[in-house]
Amino acid sequence: MKEQETTFQERIDRGEIIEPRDWMPEKYRNTNIRQIAQHAHSEIVGMLPEGNWITRAPSLRRKVALLAKVQDEAGHGLYLYSAAETLGISRDELVEQLHAGKAKYSSIFNYPTLSWADIGAIGWLVDGAAIVNQVMLTRTSYGPYARAMVRICKEESFHQRQGYEIMLTLCRGTEVQKQMAQDALNRWWWPSLMMFGPPDAQSTHTEQSMKWRIKRKTNDELRQYFVDMTVPQAEVLGITIPDLELKWNEETKHYDFGEIDWDEFWQVVKGNGPCNKQRLNARVTAWENGAWVREAAVAHAEKLAKKELAEAV
Ligand code: 3HC
Repeated sequence: MKEQETTFQERIDRGEIIEPRDWMPEKYRNTNIRQIAQHAHSEIVGMLPEGNWITRAPSLRRKVALLAKVQDEAGHGLYLYSAAETLGISRDELVEQLHAGKAKYSSIFNYPTLSWADIGAIGWLVDGAAIVNQVMLTRTSYGPYARAMVRICKEESFHQRQGYEIMLTLCRGTEVQKQMAQDALNRWWWPSLMMFGPPDAQSTHTEQSMKWRIKRKTNDELRQYFVDMTVPQAEVLGITIPDLELKWNEETKHYDFGEIDWDEFWQVVKGNGPCNKQRLNARVTAWENGAWVREAAVAHAEKLAKKELAEAV
């Protein structure tokens, strides 16, 4: 085994892409299953906060854009479940783990969407943060995951742009609309920074994931990149990021920012966020209500397979 692990690490160090049929350490397989599953669950659960506003969108144009975005997220989830299946786990197992509370999804989706401005803030900040993370993952060492990311990133840029446009429209609107945008920024800023995971020093997986090139940047590196990119965007909007310690550091050429509330983060990850129970119940109900569609699709596929077999004989 030792020799195989050495050869595997040499392949990773040469920048080679690992494919499903290649030999890989069980731990490499399992951490990819864990991360890809968490990513897929995040996409599917992430449909819920925004889905809440499809019938409330302020215009047909906004409704169409939001519908397209939420449908995209469903597709992203399916690409990622397919990528996870190449590692030998079934979609049913993945879904069971989510429904049993044994699998994680991004904590950000456990916050409520209280106004239309939240839809703008999610597109701008949450999809903006997801893009920073996902562009990095287009170079992850596991082939099916990296390739899923290429397609997903193309669609995410539309998501981020439509969100930012919503914020721009509100900030150039009435005083009440601008205040709504400011209120959304106040509530979504810090949970968006938490999307990149705990600080590197507290991260269980980052060191090994960097060695295996599952991650190409650490949690803190991506978080810093996101802050540096987003602060000027808030300045264009004319709204204030809720962090009194946010300040440009001429020496490091980065923004210094305040301490993230990691107690809040771990509370939400552990299931004690504002919407955790609601999100999981919604997913279980949707899965149960959709059982007949899955059964019909399987019955149809079996009928087709029988017909093809009969014709081949
Ligand atoms: N929410 C929930 N759990 C989180 C988390 C978060 N934001 N950040 C970290 N965690 C969990 C990890 O899953 C891990 O728990 P586990 O061992 O039980 O899985 C623990 O906290 C320790 O964190 P680590 O930093 O050691 O974990 P990772 O190495 O997995 O790094 C990550 C965390 C950077 C989120 C990484 O898992 C990752 O890149 N995941 C895929 C990308 C992703 O999930 N993006 C966000 C959601 S997709 C999205 O936003 C959709 C968009 O269209 C809106």
